[in-house]
Amino acid sequence: MSVTDERGGSESVGAGPGFTAGEVTVHRLPAELSKVTRTLRRTGRKVVLVPTMGALHEGHLELIRAARRVPNSVTVVSIFVNPLQFGPGEDFDSYPRTFEEDLRACEREGAELVFAPTRRDLYGDEPRTTIDAGEPGRELEGASRPGHFSGVLTVVAKLFNIVGPDLALFGEKDYQQLVLLRRMVRELDFPTEVQGIPIVREHDGLALSSRNRYLDERERAAALTLSAALAAGTHAGSRGADAVLAAAREVLDSEPMVELDYLWLCDPELGPAPEEGEARLLVAAKVGGTRLLDNALVELGPASRVEPAR
Ligand code: PAJ
Repeated sequence: MSVTDERGGSESVGAGPGFTAGEVTVHRLPAELSKVTRTLRRTGRKVVLVPTMGALHEGHLELIRAARRVPNSVTVVSIFVNPLQFGPGEDFDSYPRTFEEDLRACEREGAELVFAPTRRDLYGDEPRTTIDAGEPGRELEGASRPGHFSGVLTVVAKLFNIVGPDLALFGEKDYQQLVLLRRMVRELDFPTEVQGIPIVREHDGLALSSRNRYLDERERAAALTLSAALAAGTHAGSRGADAVLAAAREVLDSEPMVELDYLWLCDPELGPAPEEGEARLLVAAKVGGTRLLDNALVELGPASRVEPAR
């Protein structure tokens, strides 16, 4: 793998044992990466961006794999722990940083380009221009984490401007983030398509997250309550919205280590839940000191409209 630094030079970073094949080029400087992706686009390649904060796990890797499946494309993975989206007292300093491992994972998955700027490379002095998601950015996650979505939208807008992607992939795991990013693209006329990728889970249902590594054994077991609650809620879909919420709530209440922040049922755009049809059930809770998110698709209303046989 090769890294281009601010001098424009190229140096090799330790491949180490276990290195397989492929070649990933790491750019730190926005202007350099822009030049590379511009050239690739001119030659007819589709540029696909996978924005991440690193500490890559199978969830991230599924996004990279989906990017790699786009015909005639080049995959750019950005790795940047974005200070703008962390509030005071949140885990910015302790957020896991596993850059070398991340590079090897990108290489294994066949991503061609990694964008890994420093804070200064990306923001220079403290930025003053930010993007505001409006009222929907102050609800749910935004209510518990003021300024969070402004930080997310601002960094993603910058990444879009630097990389110029035809397509950008995000996980449904951060469902509100996905909805707000889609809206930003629509309302600010970004020429980028945003696609959501289903949540990747552990074998027992726990949604993969970089923050799962904060959990000790007991917390890890208690964290399963979130996906179990969503499963119970989903199951109750045919009995309507109240039944969904009651079923999920009952499971969450059964685990004292879960400190519920919100349990919310809404339409796919985060508006009021419909009487019938597709809805999203979202949950956020703290387990130990760790904030976890999960969500699931719920079909509300009669499971089948076929008349019962007489
Ligand atoms: P991060 O938490 O690193 O996640 C990067 C991408 O991976 C996001 O689109 C997220 O939804 C997706 N992802 C995480 N866990 C997943 C899982 N279990 N299944 C499927 N996808 C999963 O989200 C961010 O970073 C940042 O807010 C970012 C968009 C990079 C802006 O800084």
